[in-house]
Amino acid sequence: MPTDCDAPTVMPSGDAATAAAAAVLAKGGLVAFPTETVYGLGADATNARAIARLFAAKGRPAFNPLIAHVLDTAAAERFAIFNEAARRIAALLWPGPLTLVLPKRPGCVVCDLATAGLDTIAVRVPAHPVARAILRAFGGPVAAPSANRSGHVSPTTAAHVRADLAGRIDLIIDGGPTPVGLESTIIACLRERVVLLRPGGLSRDAIAQALGRPLDPPEPSGGGPRAPGLLASHYAPGAPVRLDARDVREGEALLAFGPTLPPGSAGARAILNLSPAGDLLEAAANLFAHLRALDAQAPCAIAVMPIPETGLGEAIRDRLQRAAAPRPASPR
Ligand code: TXA
Ligand code: MG
Repeated sequence: MPTDCDAPTVMPSGDAATAAAAAVLAKGGLVAFPTETVYGLGADATNARAIARLFAAKGRPAFNPLIAHVLDTAAAERFAIFNEAARRIAALLWPGPLTLVLPKRPGCVVCDLATAGLDTIAVRVPAHPVARAILRAFGGPVAAPSANRSGHVSPTTAAHVRADLAGRIDLIIDGGPTPVGLESTIIACLRERVVLLRPGGLSRDAIAQALGRPLDPPEPSGGGPRAPGLLASHYAPGAPVRLDARDVREGEALLAFGPTLPPGSAGARAILNLSPAGDLLEAAANLFAHLRALDAQAPCAIAVMPIPETGLGEAIRDRLQRAAAPRPASPR
């Protein structure tokens, strides 16, 4: 038996786990919990010491601001200033896999470290019942980045969190695999413009429909808000990632999509299919777990079949491009 003395406590979701999570948060501790998108690593957003611990646990640069999670729009309005577009989008799409970047309200109790000193704040109302129970029990805003080491693939199961953060956090609440599987879509509602900062678990079309018009184009480079955490190389498995693969080469693993496998598949080191039926919702839910599982086979590369750009395909392609981007020497 491994001694495992550094392992965080893992509790199945339920009333006891909710109470334990709220108690850890109140003491300035770190709790990983499921949201509908990915597992988050939560800390009291008003407690700068807790946020400093969170940055350290993730190995995250402190200039990268965090999302404040709250129970409802009324709570979000205490920290952020909503314009008409933001109110409309929130009314139709919260709770859900959507984060709004808004002007930070003067006197907002979310600490400056959590918002990285910006005059804007990212807020989200999650839909997952476990996340909501914890927010209700804690009673304040919870800053929660994805519960992975900085630069690693986001976790969609409690086991992923444990593999990445054991020994660095206090508690993991296991609520099973996360249903959406991709991080929230982030939009900025600033100065009457609605701009997509990060494609994610809610499609651009769904937001445009709620808004009643297409999203605004990003402001010319240099101007306008950006999601500072969007480093080119991110979501990185250990193996190189080869995109839009139309064949499988010697020693490669295949991340497939759709019913028809490409030439060379019979010799693949491993094959996992994001969605044999070609369904983008299913593909999103499987993306990070499949990347991890293929990476664990130590292939010389992961070949990824082409993914369409429609609907959630935009976010899936975004994550795959980051996984494929050139990166500094792997920390693993
Ligand atoms: O689905 C999600 O969004 C998950 C779950 C746990 O809620 N959280 C998540 O957090 O993905 P994180 O920290 O991994 O990504 C948050 C992104 C970062 O890229 C950060 O730069 C951006 O949000 N962000 C936060 N505050 C911002 C702000 N004021 N302006 C622009 N971008 C901001
Ligand atoms: Mg993240």
